[in-house]
Amino acid sequence: MSDGHVYLTRPLSDAVMTLASGLPARLVTHEDKEFPPSRDQLLEECRGAVSIISMLTEKIDAEVMDAAGPGLKAIANVAVGYDNVDVGAAAERGIIVTNTPGVLDEATADLAFALILATVRRLVEADRFIGTAKPWIWGPQSFIGLDLSAGATLGIVGLGRTGMAVARRARAFRMNIIATGSRASTAEAADLEVQSCDLETLLRTSDVVSLHCPLTSTNRHMIAAPQLAAMKPGSYLINTARGPLVDEEALADAVESGHLAGAGLDVHEFEPQVNERLRSLDKVVLLPHIGSAGAATRDAMGRLAVRNIEAILSGSAPLTPVTPVQETTTVG
Ligand code: GLV
Ligand code: GLV
Repeated sequence: MSDGHVYLTRPLSDAVMTLASGLPARLVTHEDKEFPPSRDQLLEECRGAVSIISMLTEKIDAEVMDAAGPGLKAIANVAVGYDNVDVGAAAERGIIVTNTPGVLDEATADLAFALILATVRRLVEADRFIGTAKPWIWGPQSFIGLDLSAGATLGIVGLGRTGMAVARRARAFRMNIIATGSRASTAEAADLEVQSCDLETLLRTSDVVSLHCPLTSTNRHMIAAPQLAAMKPGSYLINTARGPLVDEEALADAVESGHLAGAGLDVHEFEPQVNERLRSLDKVVLLPHIGSAGAATRDAMGRLAVRNIEAILSGSAPLTPVTPVQETTTVG
């Protein structure tokens, strides 16, 4: 495969596949719908590629770029996060990297809010209880959770596009909203009555802490034992951003001890492995990284990736390039 193909690491929707088949280079797709290419398959199938359309499941590092060879011009990651791509190694080789910002904020915010509600109102625990088919009757003290609209405070860590979309939903639920990140002091944030604060204040005062920052080389375990200890007793942690932002063992300790009332995770520290202690806790809701999994959203992500490749292969500027500089910021 050294004819300058576009290598797509997973089949996408029919609409996106149709668009991709019109690219000015032969499309080679890793045809497995369930699993990404193994490392060996990845290194083999990308050989000679002019572009790679990758998913967040593939680590696209210097070895992959060199396996593709000197003809590799572009890597289009079908995700807003691009911690799986070595952007520095790409820049050194003159390879353009693109992501899919802007098209998945609403879907991810919907999922974050679903996870907030599921966690604080104990939906999964209640559903499992019904599943046991035990006799039951309404109880004044059964399945009590947190009232979002009774003065609860949402702390948004990393107020970027997704965080802002979460803030709009929280406003409709009449929550108090505080946030960290550069957009926390913009007019849009002010319109939503979002108050800007530092992480320490946010952790100390929020009833629900929700993470919306990208994973960078400096913020792994930004929520570890000391930060969890600083959180308000009886509060909740929600993560729809990237798993390694949270030290999962420390989180399991915090929920087991009762310091936190619960947690909701769509992303996992060692994805796709799920922490066994968290899995065993009733107060923890766990999802398989489905934040952007809306049909229209996934189409838009795939289309944007293909359009980026189309632009680069025809010598135009990519629509949504990422830069190493962007990688060092804490808010996407
Ligand atoms: C999903 O996690 C994404 O980064 O798009
Ligand atoms: C995307 O997730 C963003 O916050 O920019």
